[in-house]
Amino acid sequence: MDGASLLDIEVLRRLLDTQYFAIDDRLLYQPVVDSTNVLAMQLAHQRPDEGVVVLTDSQTTGKGRLGRHWVDVSGCNVLLSILLRPLFPPPLLLMISSLTVVDAIAETCGVSATIKWPNDILVENRKVAGILIETSHDQTGRMVAILGIGINVNGRVQELAEQAQASLMTTATTLEAVCGHMVSRETLIAHLLHRIEMDYLALQHEYMSSSPISKEQYMPISRLMRERWRSRLSTLGRAIQVQQGNALVSGFAEDVDDNGELLLRRHSGELVSITWGDVGYPTG
Ligand code: BTN
Repeated sequence: MDGASLLDIEVLRRLLDTQYFAIDDRLLYQPVVDSTNVLAMQLAHQRPDEGVVVLTDSQTTGKGRLGRHWVDVSGCNVLLSILLRPLFPPPLLLMISSLTVVDAIAETCGVSATIKWPNDILVENRKVAGILIETSHDQTGRMVAILGIGINVNGRVQELAEQAQASLMTTATTLEAVCGHMVSRETLIAHLLHRIEMDYLALQHEYMSSSPISKEQYMPISRLMRERWRSRLSTLGRAIQVQQGNALVSGFAEDVDDNGELLLRRHSGELVSITWGDVGYPTG
């Protein structure tokens, strides 16, 4: 495939600007794996730490949202999972991760992406990245969250479509297709990990600290993150249709609540809260 290569882990280690994430034995690379999320979840039950990053060049059974398969073109994409043990609610993790992906893409190649609720990353209305968060509990009862990120970086959409279904030709894109040149996956991963670590640690700190003074004096970082995520959603203020299995719910995307749920004003005037589904924009 055009632009395919193995990740250069030594280059990545040199680029990494994290304190903890992916440092030393917290970086695990396998050229091919079934799913980085599955491997990271196995590790979560074998070791007590967090910030472990599992990286690959190709997945044989990559997992997408809503039980779908996540396809990749070997050596062209970012496919990674981070083992986390958040003290804060998972919707906040979803918010910081989609913001991170948008910001890291802009920082790496100057491409401006938006978020389609809940966490599809779009460029020019086509999906360029997806996020899958899976949670569980370890032996001590502490929450484990596996944050899986897939970004279509190099190669042409045609190659992705050949691996899956033809419809990807019109619904997906790659960063290379958008910016017209190859993008360094190592640089993108380094930017991604740096940003996610900063936001994650800030939230952990907020939820760890019980000082009433800090909570009264400053806007909590969680609120700031919610606001930033809300402002990046391309879904709000539009007529939308949400596909939930065989059911289609339509209306106007009015807002999101603190849990990240989508508040949809139905044509009847009723306000409903949407927790899952695929958002589409009706044409005509
Ligand atoms: C989506 O459907 O939008 C979410 C896609 C998430 C894909 C990533 S790729 C790395 C990680 N491992 C997986 O099996 N899935 C996630």
